[in-house]
Amino acid sequence: MIKTAVIGHPINHSKSPIIHRYWIERYKMQGKYEAFDITPANLNARVTALVDAGYTGFNITLPHKEAMFYLCAEVDDVAHAVGAVNTVMIKEGLLYGTNTDVFGFTENIKSNAPEFDFKAGKAVVLGAGGAARAVIKGLIDEGVPSIVLLNRTKERAQRLLETATNASLITVMDWEHRDTVLKAANILVNTTSLGMDGKDQLDIDLSQLPEHTLVNDIVYTPLHTALLSKAEARGNPIVTGIGMLLHQARPAFQQWFGIMPDVDVPLETMVLA
Ligand code: ATR
Repeated sequence: MIKTAVIGHPINHSKSPIIHRYWIERYKMQGKYEAFDITPANLNARVTALVDAGYTGFNITLPHKEAMFYLCAEVDDVAHAVGAVNTVMIKEGLLYGTNTDVFGFTENIKSNAPEFDFKAGKAVVLGAGGAARAVIKGLIDEGVPSIVLLNRTKERAQRLLETATNASLITVMDWEHRDTVLKAANILVNTTSLGMDGKDQLDIDLSQLPEHTLVNDIVYTPLHTALLSKAEARGNPIVTGIGMLLHQARPAFQQWFGIMPDVDVPLETMVLA
């Protein structure tokens, strides 16, 4: 029996159990995937208990993604670049941390816009939180020539540069310039929470965006955010955010169960339901 889980606080919003349980059944694995609500004060003790109970690995969601770094015996380059661990493999009592959000972002684009060429021009990234770090790492690894980064709090974007690989490719600009920087963009990615159900809308004028520019929103509630609808209406290719969530789960499942699972329509439908 391969025992896996997701840990976080709160945990009831997490879609990870739906995804991994779907794959466990589909690939007929002898395993289980649980969800544990663990407070920051209990993190250390509860993680030790998972190791002692013979768990193979687990996912980490808010607010433990940064704290997990310090509980791991080893953390790979991707997790270092993102500054957060979202997946752990346990081997001989030791924790090995990685971050699968970079893969999730890149694979979402590759599978839903296969003709898109990362190298063909500059990327514009809105936001400078944890998700932005993963998106930027993905863009740089895929060879984008340059990135313009805009965040409401400019200092946060500047801090992101301090730890980014190839920071020389990134230019930080004022949030107020988000309409004009769209000129000559090859891809626009929203990594802010703007446009999410219950949050403010992203106020952006797309009139300077070239028509071929790919627009991707990592928000997936709603699936078609106002940004994506606006982009689609003017003829831009779009990629929704749900794929990043689904694809980031694949390498975790592969580490634990030894099979690289597929993302299919029934899975996407279940997660969106
Ligand atoms: P995550 O780790 O998921 O990216 P986060 O760290 O809370 O989440 O980051 C949320 C992002 O949305 C940030 O870039 C945030 O901008 P600030 O760094 O200035 O807070 C952005 N964001 C949230 N509300 C916003 C708003 N009303 N206007 C502009 N940006 C906003």
